[in-house]
Order: sequence, then structure tokens, then C-alpha cells
Amino acid sequence: MKVNDLLNLEVTDIALGGKSLSRQDGRVVFIDRGVPGDRVVARVTRMRRAFAEARLERIEHASPLRVAAPCPHVQRCGGCRFQDLDYTEQLRIKQRQVNDTLQRLGAVAEPPVRAIVPAPETFHYRNKMEFSFHPGAEGAVVLGLHERGTFDRVFALDTCLLPSELTVRLVRLTQGFAAAHRWRAYHPSRHEGVVRFLTVRHLSATGQCAVHLLAARDDVPALDAWARDVAALDPAVRTVSLGINRSRANVALAEEERVLVGDGLLVERLRGLDFEVTMNAFLQTNSRQAEALYGEALAAAGLERGETLLDLYCGTGTLSLLFAGVAGEVVGVESVPEALVAARRNATRNGIANARFVEGEARRVLREWARGERPQRPRPAVVVVDPPRAGLHPRVVARVAELEPRRVVYVSCNPATLARDVKDFGERGYRLDEVAPFDMFPHTPHIECVARLARA
Ligand SMILES: C[S@@+](CC[C@H](N)C(=O)[O-])C[C@H]1O[C@@H](n2cnc3c(N)ncnc32)[C@H](O)[C@@H]1O
Repeated sequence: MKVNDLLNLEVTDIALGGKSLSRQDGRVVFIDRGVPGDRVVARVTRMRRAFAEARLERIEHASPLRVAAPCPHVQRCGGCRFQDLDYTEQLRIKQRQVNDTLQRLGAVAEPPVRAIVPAPETFHYRNKMEFSFHPGAEGAVVLGLHERGTFDRVFALDTCLLPSELTVRLVRLTQGFAAAHRWRAYHPSRHEGVVRFLTVRHLSATGQCAVHLLAARDDVPALDAWARDVAALDPAVRTVSLGINRSRANVALAEEERVLVGDGLLVERLRGLDFEVTMNAFLQTNSRQAEALYGEALAAAGLERGETLLDLYCGTGTLSLLFAGVAGEVVGVESVPEALVAARRNATRNGIANARFVEGEARRVLREWARGERPQRPRPAVVVVDPPRAGLHPRVVARVAELEPRRVVYVSCNPATLARDVKDFGERGYRLDEVAPFDMFPHTPHIECVARLARA
């Protein structure tokens, strides 16, 4: 087998991360597309000692697990690539991936994995979407999503089934406005042009919507007229803002913000509490499934009245404040200052007085508490961790174990790092009692889990 060879393959599975899995001559071949049961022809694109990678050229025999994908962009879009796989099968695959990953990377012989919780809606579940501007032919501006597997190609979006219908209408309005006013798209490698990203947040519980344009400069033609048109499209649009990012980094983060309509603020209601949402602070993107996930975290913690809870990676304080009703005290730790400001305001907004929030990187805050360099070290009965995809640094696991909580509740968006950290916790006296997988993002490879660990 060598690069450029055409192979006849049968797709047998989907690997964690979303690549299709096949075997040839005893070697694993990862294919960029294809669902289990497909017989395909694929071209080898990369050879490694233990595996090969291939690009699907054509499907010779379609799997019975295939369903018609409802989105017209499915062949090009890098977004929801499993639309053409039956949803029950998607769930079965994700469930098995969690189990296998815990066995393989977590050294758990029989992982206590519960049945995966399906998403309440399989389409229109995202409360936030980011769209990219890109230069098109003859100076035209393209606004849409990245083509599958690329970072420098964007196709013009007609529709998208993941966010709300209003979100798509806002994109279409902006496409028309950008063409009429000759907006110039920023080029990510030539570093010229003006408009970079359009982010729409449309919250499912409160129905509030924010529209945010990110540009490299603030001289966007007819900007105020665009903001007025956007706000007039639907009463749900509460606020419109412009962010400026002059740097070369191709990320939708603003260095400066200018509110054009409204006050820049949205509120989402989760499990009976109100949470302020700002553009640069984290909020789970599937509100309804987030409520179920948080419910599981509350149950897994088994916190008793008056006990202390430590919430590491607390974001805008969502979990901290949901626990505050039972806890004696809740302490949240978060590294993004804007999220911390929102967390404190969220406590006030919900009349919660027993939550305090500490700004800082989790590892550093834990180290300073351990060394007595920072006051008010908590003595938590339960620690909740909800880290980004990279999971926990080994020193964070060690410091959490030193606090000797009765339980650790691990909310994870990456089964591989969860499994690695479960192994680490195991070596520090914490046993994995239960894992509850949640499907937050149907048609994508992502899996969320709530894991309960108990001190042995
Ligand atoms: C997955 S989010 C969880 C937020 C919150 N639990 C929620 O459900 O809304 C992870 C959070 O960790 C924060 N974060 C990332 N790295 C961090 C670090 N090293 N120390 C503390 N917080 C961090 C991010 O800013 C983000 O708010």
C-alpha cells in the first residue's frame, strides 16, 4: 500500500473524532467519509507505520444504515458530517466509543457506562454559530462555512439545519447587504480586507438573539444601516455589535467591542436560573441538552445540605449557581475575566449569596491554595471539573485528590482526555463509579459525558 493507491474498502466503524474505519492487509485505514456497511473506493493520502489515511472517491455499495441527508450542503460542509447516518446508529456508535476509550486509555476493564442520552432535537439545536467571510471571485464577498477539511475555503451558505431559522435569515440578510455595499472580506493568509466573521447567538429558552460582526478595521461600509436592518428583521434580535480584531490570528475573538444596537447583553434560562451571556464567555451551545447534562452533574455530586462544592473551570457560573441551592458554599474557579464578571453578576441576578468566584488558571489557583499562598482554601465535599477538550493537567488531578473530596464529578467534552484523567484519578485513590454520555451535537463526532468518581 502506498500514497495514491486506490483501495476497495468496507467501512466497519467510526473512530473517535469521526473518521471512518476500515482495514486492508491487517492495517487500519482511516477514510474521511463513509458510514459502517458502505463498500467504497478510496485513495490513500498518507501512510504511517500503524495506519493509513484515505479520501473517499466513490461509494460502490451504500450501507443500509444510510439515510437521506436533509441539508443540501452535506457534501461540502465541514459541519455535521453524520447527517447521512441513521440517528439511532449515531448514538450506538458514540456509546461504544465512550466504552472502548475508557477501556483503552483509561484502563477500566468494564466501564460503568450508562445508556447515552439522545438530544431532545436532532436539528436546530445550536444556540450559537460562527460564519466566515472569505474573498470570492472578482472581489465578491462570500459568507458561509468552511469546506470540509479546509481552513482556507468557504462556501456561501444557503441554509443550515443546526442553528435556528432566524440565524439563517440573518446570514442571508448579511450576504445581501455585504454584496450591495461591497464589503471586502478579510483574507486569512494575505491579511487584507475588512470583514472576518459573523456570529449569531439565538437562545432557545428565552428566545433572545445577538448578532456580532468581527472585522479587522472599523470602517465597514454602511455599518449602522446594516445593524438597523439586522435589528429590524425580527423582534428577537436584542443586540448587534461590532468587534475589532486587528491581529493576524484567524480567530473570532475581539480585541475591542462596539455595541451598535441594544446593550450587548443576552440572558438564557437554564434549570430555573438566569444567566447573562456575553460574546467572549463560554455557554453550552445546546441549551436544552445542557439542562439535562447539568441535572446529571447535580445528581452525580450527591451534595448534602451545607456542604462545600468546588467548581473548577466554572465559566459564567452555571454549575456553581445551580449547586448553590444545596451547598453551604460554592467556590468557582475560571481563567477568563469576562466569564468571571458574568458569573458574579449571575449570582446577584439570581439572589445567590453563597457563591464566590476566583479568577485564575485552575492549576495555579490550586497550587497557591496548597502552598498557603492564597487565602480561603476551600475544603470541598465534592469537586466538579468541566475543562476544555485538553482535559486536566496531571498536577490538577493531584491537587484535587489532595483536597480529599468524597466525590469528583467530571463533565467532559472529550472521551479521550476523560479516560486518561480517570486513570490518573484511579492512581490517586478515586474509583470510576458511573459515566453518563450525552449527545449534545447530533450529526457531529462530539460526545459529552458526566463521570462520577468516588474516594475508595
Ligand atoms: C467547557 S467550559 C465549562 C464552563 C461551565 N462549567 C459551563 O458549563 O458553562 C470550560 C471553561 O474553562 C475555562 N478555562 C479554560 N482553561 C482554564 C484554566 N486553565 N483554568 C481555569 N479555567 C479555564 C474556559 O474559559 C471555560 O469557561
